[in-house]
Amino acid sequence: MLSESFLTELKARNDIEDIVGAYVQVKRRGRNLVGLCPFHSEKTPSFTVYPESQSFYCFGCGAGGDVITFVRRMENLDYIEAVKFLAQRAGMAMPEDGYDDSLARLKTRILEINRQAARFYHQCLISPVGKKGLDYLRERGLSDQTIRHFGLGYAPEQWDAAIRHLLGKGFRMEELIAAAIAVKGSRGQSYDQFRGRVIFPIIDIRGNVIAFGGRVLDGKGPKYLNSPDTPVFKKSRNLFALNFAKAAKQPALILAEGYMDVVALHQAGFANAVATLGTSLTAEQARMISQYAQEVVISYDSDGAGQKATNRAINMFGEIGMKVRVLKVHDAKDPDEFLKKFGAVRFRMLLEGADSAMAFEIQALRQKHDLAQPEGKVGFLKEFAQFMAGIRNPIERDVYVTRTAQELGVSKEPLTQQIDYIIRQQAKHAEKKQERNLTVFAADTKGRRDPQRNAHLKEALAEERLIVVLLKNPDYREFILDQIQPEDFLTDFNRAIFRVICDRLAENRSIEPISLSEQLDVEQMGKVAGILADSACSGATRKEAADYIDTILAGKAKKTPEELGKMDRRQLEEYVAGLAAKKK
Ligand code: CTP
Ligand code: MN
Repeated sequence: MLSESFLTELKARNDIEDIVGAYVQVKRRGRNLVGLCPFHSEKTPSFTVYPESQSFYCFGCGAGGDVITFVRRMENLDYIEAVKFLAQRAGMAMPEDGYDDSLARLKTRILEINRQAARFYHQCLISPVGKKGLDYLRERGLSDQTIRHFGLGYAPEQWDAAIRHLLGKGFRMEELIAAAIAVKGSRGQSYDQFRGRVIFPIIDIRGNVIAFGGRVLDGKGPKYLNSPDTPVFKKSRNLFALNFAKAAKQPALILAEGYMDVVALHQAGFANAVATLGTSLTAEQARMISQYAQEVVISYDSDGAGQKATNRAINMFGEIGMKVRVLKVHDAKDPDEFLKKFGAVRFRMLLEGADSAMAFEIQALRQKHDLAQPEGKVGFLKEFAQFMAGIRNPIERDVYVTRTAQELGVSKEPLTQQIDYIIRQQAKHAEKKQERNLTVFAADTKGRRDPQRNAHLKEALAEERLIVVLLKNPDYREFILDQIQPEDFLTDFNRAIFRVICDRLAENRSIEPISLSEQLDVEQMGKVAGILADSACSGATRKEAADYIDTILAGKAKKTPEELGKMDRRQLEEYVAGLAAKKK
């Protein structure tokens, strides 16, 4: 753990205005500074720097925190790396003892292992042992140059080829296991993670080999096997080929589903293609994409799963305000197959004509109904009106309403009236809802996707308010802890924040953002910064704190139907008796 005095000095010497100013153009507005958020794509500035609390917060995407959090996000570093970065910048020496850099050392070792492993797999591919792999890749149409460019490889069909090679280079077995090159078996013996597969190295934007994907040749086992998360790799935070796509410096990125699609696209001249790594798109990946491009072209498989994933991705990009187009490959299952069948020129034509996300969704709606039948038409128009009502820009709405009315041969006016009616209803509804929870945080992106928070929204809001009260009034700590413990919180996310603040207060340690960022992750720091940015609640009283506590405890006492279902008879009786006692 770093000493408070070290952090105080680090903060004093790394003014957040200077650090942010090196990456973002900010303008003064009152006591604060505002600019375009570097963590998501936006046209009007919602990124705010608060010199007073030395913190930042983006009302658009919910990123926030202290100067260390900013550097972590910006430079993609972990906590201690970011501290080092800032210390170095300010000419400060890192404290000799009192902090643990074993993780940083392990990471360096793992990256070295990965680099050597990638080299090994590639050597295997181009030597006799890898003939099967090389034949396979060539048969799939990859040139030798593409194979080299991506550093593709082959993992021999032996239990420990990679292990033996790397032990021979002086790495230890524990390190190979940490790197997930080796897997520990049940009886203590270890074996290679990848066997008899062609290998796709995953390389981050700094050029580090951080993980691998492996494809089977003969249909044994899962088609693709990916490295699990390791200290240097988090699936949800990386994209395949982003290292190349970033360098391509195109205004748009193409998002495909698979490794082979991306490799084939690059070979065909579309060096701006990336893919997720065996998972569906995460919020973090969407944010990364928005950092490197103004527009994303989703080009998923043409099957049902691909269409579903497309819808999901459209929503995720919509949430961060990123422009989306959808490219649908016809007569081919995926971009790779399309390129093989029809070539790069046809793909470029598709790309240039790719529908906007809106047209895609309208098309998907149409396919749900039989438009040849009157009922089908009505059903479609109802859903269409509902969908259009969700579009804020009236001009955009008019374009699609006009076009759709024409295509269906119906008159436009009743359709427009229906849409306006839905919009008015929705506005009324929203107003009421806003009155009910005045206190929802402006841009709590993490919170919005937290299922626990959604399941217990009322309590989660109370938890958040209670955290505000405590942050602004540390002297309430005892008063609060007399009534509620972190364990009583219903959401893990808020509980973790609350616990860290309470623990630090108990030890008389600082709860300023720069100190909290040692124990909270970047998402949690975002919420803390959001809380600090929300100055409306500075005058909280003990009475309010007590109200929030009541709400949380009442929510905790309630059981969900699933929980009730799991109780035995005696537990149920006790629970009901408890409820009755409370009523009195
Ligand atoms: N995937 C995975 N695990 C699987 C299957 C798929 O991680 N068992 C991921 C991989 O990242 C793969 C992507 O999902 O690249 C797309 O899968 P799929 O459409 O089945 O693969 P293709 O890229 O079409 O594979 P190929 O062309 O090699 O058959
Ligand atoms: Mn494919």
